[in-house]
Amino acid sequence: MKKFYITTPIYYVNDKPHIGHAYTTVAADVIARYHKLKEEKVFFLTGADEHGTKVAESAKKQGENPQEFCNEMSQRFKDTWKKLNISNNDFIRTTSKRHIKGVEKFLKELKRKGLIYKGEYKGLYCIGCEKFITEKELVDGKCPIHQKRPEVISEKNYFFKLSKYLDKVQKLIQNDEIEILPKERKNETLGLIKQGLEDFSISREKVKWGIKIPWDDQQTVYVWIDALLNYITALDYGDNQKKFKKFWPADSPAVLQLLGKDILKFHTIYWPALLLALNIKPPKKLFVHGYFTISGRKMSKSLGNIITPEEMIEKFGVDGTRYLLMSAARFGQDADVSWDWFKEKYNADLANGIGNTVNRVLTMVEKYFNGIIPEDKPIPMTLMKKTLGQPLKVKSKDTKLGLKDSIKKNILTSWSVLDNLFHFDICLGQIIEGFRENFRQIDKDISDEEPWNPRADMTQKVFYSWLESIRLLAFMLLPFMPETSNKIFKQLGIPGEEKETLAKAQKWGRLKPGARIKKGKPLFPRIK
Ligand code: MSP
Repeated sequence: MKKFYITTPIYYVNDKPHIGHAYTTVAADVIARYHKLKEEKVFFLTGADEHGTKVAESAKKQGENPQEFCNEMSQRFKDTWKKLNISNNDFIRTTSKRHIKGVEKFLKELKRKGLIYKGEYKGLYCIGCEKFITEKELVDGKCPIHQKRPEVISEKNYFFKLSKYLDKVQKLIQNDEIEILPKERKNETLGLIKQGLEDFSISREKVKWGIKIPWDDQQTVYVWIDALLNYITALDYGDNQKKFKKFWPADSPAVLQLLGKDILKFHTIYWPALLLALNIKPPKKLFVHGYFTISGRKMSKSLGNIITPEEMIEKFGVDGTRYLLMSAARFGQDADVSWDWFKEKYNADLANGIGNTVNRVLTMVEKYFNGIIPEDKPIPMTLMKKTLGQPLKVKSKDTKLGLKDSIKKNILTSWSVLDNLFHFDICLGQIIEGFRENFRQIDKDISDEEPWNPRADMTQKVFYSWLESIRLLAFMLLPFMPETSNKIFKQLGIPGEEKETLAKAQKWGRLKPGARIKKGKPLFPRIK
């Protein structure tokens, strides 16, 4: 069985989750579900980044001790992921014992290999980014992301000998052994390496909220080193390493890490270097996605324009929210959204595209076939009147039905973009187009000719094709909108279809003639 390990960044718990966090998490969920449907052994990890100054300050503002604060906030992230139907296999917290044990083991190993030395750090630090920042990066003396003046820091720190591994990281990236997608991000990374990077500090003297350096309790592990290691501590790196050996093998063919463009350097340079230092293979693939902005502006507390997943779920439902997030932009590029855009897109694609089509087909099956799924073959004229309560004539020319062919060709191939390019918007666009085509096909198929129309014997076959293409389309929606697919399967009288594998489900003709459909409530009520 093929193995597949997928991760999201672990999110800072200084504040509640917003749609930026949900974006990465839903994307990872779609990919994880897709690989499960391909019968792979999937491990999907997300989690919480709980240490560091930023989190400690938020706790203080709330008048809570940091651990209590983190417990509450981590739970909020977990709750949100549950509401969004995220299928993660694990949720790692950096304050958990297993994580701390793993971090300690990793650092001791680095030290044992002589890759850590004590030095003096003097420079600027942005608490928002939780990273050192150079004069060059400032705009008007402020961090361009957080619009705050950085702190001036001067202290003794432990440093990691990054310089020893930079050439190797560069080569691995150049020849795509570490594949960075989209390509612009690969180039950006290579550009950063070319500019030259200094050894980086892995500890802080003045930060108290964090993991202590195992051999020096006056120093706290730098929050970014602490955080990056989550990707292997969650695989029990610090313990029996069973999962680590399974999902991070030496020839790991399928480790995919998703991240936003803000944290590129840590993931594409520092993280591989740290792993190489301990002779651990670096990740195979990193996908760097863009940022959400709201009506052209950064999403931020001070602008008061933060959108939470909960607010979206209330308006558009869980699957509506998942759909809107995944179709907002080409994955990899920035997405500018607004409540108006969400609403229009929801009405056009979900209420009209999917909802109307399913409703129309099922209503007609009720009307003409008493809610029974007809057979996938022409019906002898003599039987026709008896079977079809109120005969409806179709004008399909022959048994080669348009829908069957186009659905098989276009829709089933659309999933393939989930293998490499992760163009969720294209894939979804094709599925929605399939529903629309189904709707149009009904108009094409229905005849206004008289009952003696010679093609009337095709009626039940045509009906079957409308229904069967809806089943296939619903299957294609599974990674994106699992609840909607399940609802459609139930309405088609085949509950449990979602448990089938792609190999089986993609075959034409799985609907059972004679089974009863169960029309339900509208899938996506129109929003005024
Ligand atoms: N804790 C670090 C990551 C450590 S991973 C070893 C961190 N956390 S964060 O809470 O700031 O979340 C960062 C991630 O959230 C981004 O990389 C991105 O995946 C997602 N997003 C946060 N804001 C976002 C947008 N406005 N738009 C899209 N995604 C964004 O950095």
